[in-house]
Amino acid sequence: MLRTHNCGELRISDIGKTIKLSGWVQRSRDLGGMTFIDLRDRYGITQLVFNMETHAVLCEQARKLGREYVIQIGGLVAERSNKNAKLSTGEIEVIVEQIVVLNKAKTPPFTIEDETDGGEELRMKYRYLDLRRNPLRKALELRHKMAITTRNYLDKLGFLDIETPYLIKSTPEGARDFIVPSRMNSNQFYALPQSPQTFKQLLMVAGYDRYYQIVKCFRDEDLRADRQPEFTQIDCEMAFVEQEDILNTFEGLTRHLFKEVKGLEIAAFPRMTYSDAMKYYGSDKPDIRFGMRFVELNELAKNLGFSIFEEAELIVGIKAEGLAEYSRKQLDQLTDFVKKPQIGAKGMVYVKCNADGSFKSSVDKFYTEAQLKTWADKFEAKAGDLLLILSGNEESVRKQLGGLRLEIANQLGLRNPNQFAPLWVLDFPLLEWNEDSKRFFAMHHPFTSPKQEDIALLDIDPGKVRANAYDLVINGVEIGGGSIRIHDRELQKLMFKHLGFTEEEAQAQFGFLMDAFEYGAPPHGGVAFGFDRITSLFGGSDSIRDYIAFPKNNSGRDMMIDSPSPVAQEQLDELMLEIVKVKKTIQ
Ligand code: AMO
Repeated sequence: MLRTHNCGELRISDIGKTIKLSGWVQRSRDLGGMTFIDLRDRYGITQLVFNMETHAVLCEQARKLGREYVIQIGGLVAERSNKNAKLSTGEIEVIVEQIVVLNKAKTPPFTIEDETDGGEELRMKYRYLDLRRNPLRKALELRHKMAITTRNYLDKLGFLDIETPYLIKSTPEGARDFIVPSRMNSNQFYALPQSPQTFKQLLMVAGYDRYYQIVKCFRDEDLRADRQPEFTQIDCEMAFVEQEDILNTFEGLTRHLFKEVKGLEIAAFPRMTYSDAMKYYGSDKPDIRFGMRFVELNELAKNLGFSIFEEAELIVGIKAEGLAEYSRKQLDQLTDFVKKPQIGAKGMVYVKCNADGSFKSSVDKFYTEAQLKTWADKFEAKAGDLLLILSGNEESVRKQLGGLRLEIANQLGLRNPNQFAPLWVLDFPLLEWNEDSKRFFAMHHPFTSPKQEDIALLDIDPGKVRANAYDLVINGVEIGGGSIRIHDRELQKLMFKHLGFTEEEAQAQFGFLMDAFEYGAPPHGGVAFGFDRITSLFGGSDSIRDYIAFPKNNSGRDMMIDSPSPVAQEQLDELMLEIVKVKKTIQ
């Protein structure tokens, strides 16, 4: 037996027991007569004591142990004179009587402590060492707890966990596919699923009316803190349901997770239409932990001679409470912020509501104090507040102000990671115009049903058609998205037509789904949560990487196994693939 207990287990009640422990040497301290070693495993740390007087040979052996050596010890549990309240085992220590080195270790390239000295790239290369650190261990434990809690909840509601294939045909979700060549079918390719979308719909046709899967998805898209090329979804589908049923079921799941995993009771989620989210927050994923709703000023600020506002489609601003004291420098920094390419505004107008009731603005030349007061009234501003105003094209200016709103909230410390503000965003547009390719794309995916009352608009004003589509947003993060699907062949055909597919193209790519709709497809709909995202949100982090055991870096590389990498010529020959050496800049 290599161990009788783990390193987080022994308590004062175990004093006097002879035990065996195995683990890694976290650190050792040599105090002359005594040597102490902290022995670590997944469960905790136990202090080992070696006494020079009574066990000189053992003590010598202990002094030679390097960091991260794997050892097994046998010894006696004793009460510690110097107790450590921070450790679960802090009341005891083990007086070692025998020691076996199970494996030596090279000195690790960074310290395996909560706060490490290792840079990101180095830690990615030695991920198995990084995973030994407490913060990562806790992240993976949280991930496990989220998964098991989700499974239990869905299982109780009768959802079946059904696996769907990874080698499939492309399912367009707006990103590029990863493709896999087929050896047995030369010149043909599988695609890795961007999601199991079509399969879960086919399961509904097959009669499995409650499906779920915690499943890997693959998307070849540019990476960010909240995006990985392979990520995991809690993917669900239900038949014989309406939107309301889905929202209730998955609001239930989210609240259950908050309760079981974080011990938080969360009130019923507010709901907001997409158009209100854009109008008041400039984002389809508004962070509603704080207010700062947009206030429009066209009526009050136009026709008074300030040419930039005259030319603007929309003049809109936010109120930053208590920031009237901001210095010239701080205001300039905010102007620089909105001018950054990521935000893209041309400039920013400010109005300070001074403590003495006067107003000071960057447009004093064009507006009287009385006029500025009408603005302040519209914002319901009080003395000490600062108004920040942007103008321009309606759609862009809202997004720009949305960016400024988040920046101000950061500066005001309003984005507390321990506070959670979920909401449903509803009634997304069905289609989205793409200026580059001059055509509409499905905003969610092509299987999403239009609102019945908007179908007639499809031919007249496709951009105005709303979908039965919804997103779950928490703290400004898109946690999940879904829709009620089309289950009628003719409507699905019409959708493909509007998406610019010829009838042949639609049949070639999606004939299998449209054919299935002819064999008794029930009304159905579903949702998928980003599992890495909801886990990192629960963990209080913006980066999903810390919650994935083996993530990729920003260039999509696995630094540890050094992938992607070239393959042997024989493999290429077998696949009848040829590497064409072209110099191409990736767009
Ligand atoms: P959607 O494309 O909105 O919907 O994806 C659902 C959720 O998955 C997460 N997500 C990601 N997480 C990490 N890295 C990525 N690259 C990434 N891309 C998406 C997000 C997102 O909300 N089949 C539909 C769902 C449905 O209609 O039922 C779908 O995949 O949190």
